[in-house]
Amino acid sequence: MICVRDVTVDYGRGANVVRAVEDVSLDIGRGESLALIGPSGCGKTSLLFAMAGLHRAVSGTIEIDELPVQGPRKEVALILQNAGLLPWKTVLQNANLSLLLNKDYPNKTADAVLENLGLGSVKSRFPAELSEGMKRRVGIARALSTSPSVMLMDEPLASLDTLTKERIQDLFLELWKQHEFCLVLVTHDIEEAAFLGQRVVVLTERPARIKTIVSNPHMGELDYRRTESFMTIVGQLRKALEE
Ligand SMILES: Nc1ncnc2c1ncn2[C@@H]1O[C@H](COP(=O)(O)OP(=O)(O)O)[C@@H](O)[C@H]1O
Ligand SMILES: [Mg+2]
Repeated sequence: MICVRDVTVDYGRGANVVRAVEDVSLDIGRGESLALIGPSGCGKTSLLFAMAGLHRAVSGTIEIDELPVQGPRKEVALILQNAGLLPWKTVLQNANLSLLLNKDYPNKTADAVLENLGLGSVKSRFPAELSEGMKRRVGIARALSTSPSVMLMDEPLASLDTLTKERIQDLFLELWKQHEFCLVLVTHDIEEAAFLGQRVVVLTERPARIKTIVSNPHMGELDYRRTESFMTIVGQLRKALEE
């Protein structure tokens, strides 16, 4: 479904060039979940934005559904670190933004998605009246509203307290199982990667190259955080990052 081949991403040119990603190749299957983890500043966002069609790779190719990525695509949703809500719009208006910006969904609204995410009673509130966790859920509702087949996430839960973070990780897992989108999660949080990635790609320091790929076959099982398999994966990831 997503095919990344020898992708290199640079900023600037000539003597001032900063190489963010170097020769990364990845195949991500339909409905698969993949976590990308690596040190701060290594090039994770640059790689994800290249998949989202927001950065152009200087070399290599990226295809989604066998079509080269040349810009943002309607079947691809992106969730960023802060939910990106507009403070002067209500919850419902914020959740409807992706639908509004796309001519393909003339009569669709995010109403049902908001209900499903437990936000039905706050539809007419403004972002400032919501908890951090609720704001993130509005961002998730916006991303889900267009029924994407690919969900790209760039540290979507950074700066949340642990329990809120885990609750939304549980929600991501449930939504991934229910909607069967292909999930690509960028994070620097080892436990988050182990909880949500069927495979976890560990990246090197900048420029990001693939250091190792850890497979996580028990991901998604009941109460996974409390299992020995989970702790083993967390240990493997920690070791890979430190090496
Ligand atoms: N617009 C830019 N111009 C120049 N350098 C950039 C730009 N954006 C990011 N970089 C550099 O590219 C590297 C990778 O950035 P990024 O992909 O945001 O890393 P990460 O998401 O892993 O923290 C960083 O060292 C950063 O300084
Ligand atoms: Mg980043």
